[in-house]
Amino acid sequence: MRIPLLSIYRCVGTLNSRHIVPRVSQIALVPRHYSTSPSKPSTVTLNGKSYPCDDHTNVPPHIAQCLSRKLHLIPNHPISITRSLIESQFPSPVYKSYNTLLPVVTVGQNFDSLGFPLDHPGRSRTDTYYVNKDTVLRTHTSAHQADTFRLRESDGFTISADVYRRDAIDRSHYPVFHQMEGARMWSRDSVPNGDIAAAIWKEIEQMPRHDLKVEDTAGAWDAERNPVQSEHTDAEAEAVAAHLKRSLENVVVEVFGQARKAAIAAGEAKESEVEEPLKVRWIEAYFPFTSPSYELEVFWQGDWLELLGCGVVKQELLKNADCNDQIGWAFGVGLERVSMLLFNIPDIRLFWSQDARFLSQFTPSTITRFQPFSKFPPCHKDVAFWLPSSTTSAAGGNTMGVFHENDMMEVVRDVAGDDAEDVRCIDEFVHPKTGKKSLCFRVNYRSLERTLTNDETNQMHEKVRQALVERYGVELR
Ligand code: DAH
Repeated sequence: MRIPLLSIYRCVGTLNSRHIVPRVSQIALVPRHYSTSPSKPSTVTLNGKSYPCDDHTNVPPHIAQCLSRKLHLIPNHPISITRSLIESQFPSPVYKSYNTLLPVVTVGQNFDSLGFPLDHPGRSRTDTYYVNKDTVLRTHTSAHQADTFRLRESDGFTISADVYRRDAIDRSHYPVFHQMEGARMWSRDSVPNGDIAAAIWKEIEQMPRHDLKVEDTAGAWDAERNPVQSEHTDAEAEAVAAHLKRSLENVVVEVFGQARKAAIAAGEAKESEVEEPLKVRWIEAYFPFTSPSYELEVFWQGDWLELLGCGVVKQELLKNADCNDQIGWAFGVGLERVSMLLFNIPDIRLFWSQDARFLSQFTPSTITRFQPFSKFPPCHKDVAFWLPSSTTSAAGGNTMGVFHENDMMEVVRDVAGDDAEDVRCIDEFVHPKTGKKSLCFRVNYRSLERTLTNDETNQMHEKVRQALVERYGVELR
């Protein structure tokens, strides 16, 4: 199963390439209920606070409702259990944990402070929920890096929170998920002789050693692809990277060690796996706010899985946060992804279930394997439509705007909520004479909690069809 929870903000083309190549036009057709309807609301209420709307606003009610759930703070929820397990590897007083930062942030916090270029696809309204043109629902916990550095409340920190992205519908994508950010800084002004590298190596000496099998093809840096920043010496970058890597390897030992015990206890692990040491590997990566940058992958039940992104924090970011005397590392990890592996949870929608059959299975601080309560039958339905001609040129290329796949996802989520299991575009073609473009999507409806009746499914699907017409002016086929 592919669980790409970090995909959008890395750039080199590995995982989710549609996010990596900037699209020809990022201007989606504007859903009518946000822009042209006369009854358009002038404010949107989030966590009890109201914000002015404008023509950027695209936060639908079903997303606004998720802000109050705070799954990462419910003690017997797998997301919270995973969070505290990782957090325990970053103890106070060196690391301070921030777990209640609000999800409404400025475009400056979410993108500018981190050096995202103005044309980065992550900024588009097709990928991000805008409260209004200056304000978004954070798309990652990195949005809080600069402010937390500026506070200087501790040498290191973790930030766990809900994050929001317009995205596909399938078993590993949900428009709200959770991340943990971590960082560790050292000030040149407070280490002996200003020698940061020596001070860091001394600390590394005192860190617990582990018996992981580590493959490292990234090394500390690569002069061309993954350079040391001009503000840092090679020795500094190397020391920071070594501390970062050892810290995160220790997380894997703890977290996946426990998960393996749970799998063995449940009789799921093969004898050979039980005997072998855990395996991880480091690979080069790119993020706008770190250099050098890395990704950590773990070998889990026969596959290499991307676990997290990290690197040496860009000095520009620190300078802007009044921390130019400091140097350090940061990482970001998707909690759903880890949690799905640890607890053997097959569908990301389960995390949002309020069904006691799900929630009563878990105990704080303990990894147990999820016991499926039942598998209810799926029911798929197709919808095919012509895009309005203003969205395609006579030659068939996009000119004025694009109906983005994520717009389809949003309509389905709006109507069917968690009863939509996955949505795929199964056909796309351009009429040779008219130049009009036709799309066909397959929507798979399945509840995790009960059997949907035929009538119900038909009604939901009809609503999806009508919503496409009303909001996007498509012509059903
Ligand atoms: N914010 C990144 C994402 O959501 C993850 C990340 C990568 C965070 C590297 C970091 C980092 O702090 O150093 O994809």
